[in-house]
Amino acid sequence: MISIKQVDYNGIDSLKYVTESVPAVLPNGVLVKMAVLPVVPTDLKRESNPNATSEQFGTLPRTIGVSGVGTVVSVGSNRDSELLNKRVLLLNPSGTFSEYVLNENNDWLFMLPDEVSDNEAATLTATSLVLKKEIEDSTFSNVFITGANSVIGIYLLQQLNTVDKKIYPIVTPSSKTYLKDFLPDIQVYTVSDISEKLDSAIIADIAGNEEILKSLSDKIIDLSIVSIAIMKQNKFSNFKFVHESFDHTTYEYLIEQLADQSLRAPIGKVFDDHDVKQAQHYLEDNHSRGRILLKF
Ligand SMILES: NC(=O)c1ccc[n+]([C@@H]2O[C@H](COP(=O)([O-])OP(=O)(O)OC[C@H]3O[C@@H](n4cnc5c(N)ncnc54)[C@H](OP(=O)(O)O)[C@@H]3O)[C@@H](O)[C@H]2O)c1
Repeated sequence: MISIKQVDYNGIDSLKYVTESVPAVLPNGVLVKMAVLPVVPTDLKRESNPNATSEQFGTLPRTIGVSGVGTVVSVGSNRDSELLNKRVLLLNPSGTFSEYVLNENNDWLFMLPDEVSDNEAATLTATSLVLKKEIEDSTFSNVFITGANSVIGIYLLQQLNTVDKKIYPIVTPSSKTYLKDFLPDIQVYTVSDISEKLDSAIIADIAGNEEILKSLSDKIIDLSIVSIAIMKQNKFSNFKFVHESFDHTTYEYLIEQLADQSLRAPIGKVFDDHDVKQAQHYLEDNHSRGRILLKF
């Protein structure tokens, strides 16, 4: 089978297509033939920086990707035989960009209902719910979301509709129309649209741009920042980096929300041709317009 491996920290063009054996299915294993893989900024960062994320990936080569959708083709004797031939969403911190991925942790495998397409499921991320909890727990009633048009931002905005706070989704000027079209009921702002001075606010930072944070902070007297994109900085005092840890019930909940259409998946450009380098370059060179997907 083909796997896509990171072999160094020299970026996208160093990725290698490697032929290796299909993993053997032991009693605790479930083998998934992958069909759709999300092309994510986190992979891009890891490919050029060993310290890009809080998880340590010390040993190279490693298979890229942490999630994907496929069909179960073999089930070990200790696992649920009902899984055979079922479409599943798979989480796997040891990599998913392979023709076949072995799952040995039942918590990281989710059967997909007919109502949820492969492409929709492949966009799923629970990072938005980490930010939602920070926003709910904050005593501040004003909420700025930078990078609001991102995949995580769009999931977060949809999940905040039950939260009684004033939300300011902040985007770059190029992304205003896209976000307004995707979520027509939401008012969208650029940094320059914010003219009033506010007593207090929490910023949920998805864009990871310190200049944007600085511009916003100049307009807020009492401020806290929670970021999923900046791990370390020294400009802001009330600042926290947060990250997602895979949680089974959270993903089950998100799949249910997609199935009952209370959540809409932002699906971006779909690459049909196995060309992960082209897809990652596309991600790097373009504004976020939904999750870029690679058919495998
Ligand atoms: N902490 C965690 O657990 C965790 C988990 C997953 C992802 N992440 C990180 O979360 C971030 C968002 O992920 P995603 O998949 O939602 O990304 P995405 O859909 O590609 O969106 C990226 C967003 O960041 C904005 N952005 C990027 N660079 C910018 C800059 N220099 N100035 C202003 N805005 C900028 C983009 O704006 P435009 O579209 O207008 O360019 C877009 O809104 C990434 O940095 C990713 O690595 C963190």
